Amino acid sequence: MRNSKEESQQAAHGGVRTVVVPAAGMGTRFLPATKTVPKELLPVVDTPGIELIAEEAADLGAERLVIVVAPQKQEIMDHFGEFNVLQERLLNRGKEEQAEKVSRANELIDAVAVTQESPLGLGHAVGCAEPALDAEEDAVAVMLPDDLVLPIGVMDKMVRVREEFGGSVLCAFNVTPDEVYNYGVFDVEDAERDIEGVEVKKVRGMVEKPAKEEAPSTLVATGRYLLDRAVFDALGRIEPGKGGELQLTDAIELMIQEGHPVHVVVHRGKRHDLGNPGGYIPANVDFGLRDEKYGPALYPALKEILAEFEAEHPEVLERGQQG
Ligand code: G1P
Repeated sequence: MRNSKEESQQAAHGGVRTVVVPAAGMGTRFLPATKTVPKELLPVVDTPGIELIAEEAADLGAERLVIVVAPQKQEIMDHFGEFNVLQERLLNRGKEEQAEKVSRANELIDAVAVTQESPLGLGHAVGCAEPALDAEEDAVAVMLPDDLVLPIGVMDKMVRVREEFGGSVLCAFNVTPDEVYNYGVFDVEDAERDIEGVEVKKVRGMVEKPAKEEAPSTLVATGRYLLDRAVFDALGRIEPGKGGELQLTDAIELMIQEGHPVHVVVHRGKRHDLGNPGGYIPANVDFGLRDEKYGPALYPALKEILAEFEAEHPEVLERGQQG
């Protein structure tokens, strides 16, 4: 489902006008591709990850995407520009479908760039977006373009939870104990009340990338945040944390300690991590199989690749049977 810019503006609800997208990372895990192409422009089938985020933001009813970019990565913004010559050329050749693809990003949402001069961490990147917000915006959404949270719509649930409990709301995903060291991990208790159709918990604390033994749970932060504007004040008061970086997790933890209500929506759906080839490849297979045009041929092609691989490596079948 795709909203046009106008439809999104009409649909704006829950106070989310702006979605911040931190996109200043160096993309080292995708070298050599990322020497010249920002990781956020790498396609899932044919659509760059950043456009999938723009689509999700537009579906939420947001009007504006504030993309936090590094000084040498401004070309991400070109994707949201107008391509009149190309579009006209395509239309003249009767290629309407392709012309629509060309104009889609520009029509979805207003994208503005904010520059993060130095890579000082996710918390710092989010803090850079504050001047781009209007005075009356009391909450802001943050979507990390590495994370595809499926099916789309978890942010709508998060908006409902903020309407009910106020404060800030994050998205939680359950992982295995061996995976927690990669994430912000939540310490949770039962929420004050149930909300129909939403699994919601109250957050007692949050810790960035703890060791397995120190993790308070296996519920981790997954790239979708609905933050009260108070987060900017907290971001201004934290010290460098994990990895010597200013962590968004630490600002949220500070807010919790100061009595700010924080809840999570536990998402039981699917998630792809586009931040590294190990997650990007399955995302392409998943989207590819579901693609009208490519899915039908991809399915037998994958089966053939798998059969060939299994013949060469019978041990993978034994491993599979062991669980
Ligand atoms: C960031 C956050 C972390 C969160 C993760 C979700 O880490 O710092 O709290 O769990 O995103 O993907 P990164 O993956 O940027 O290291």
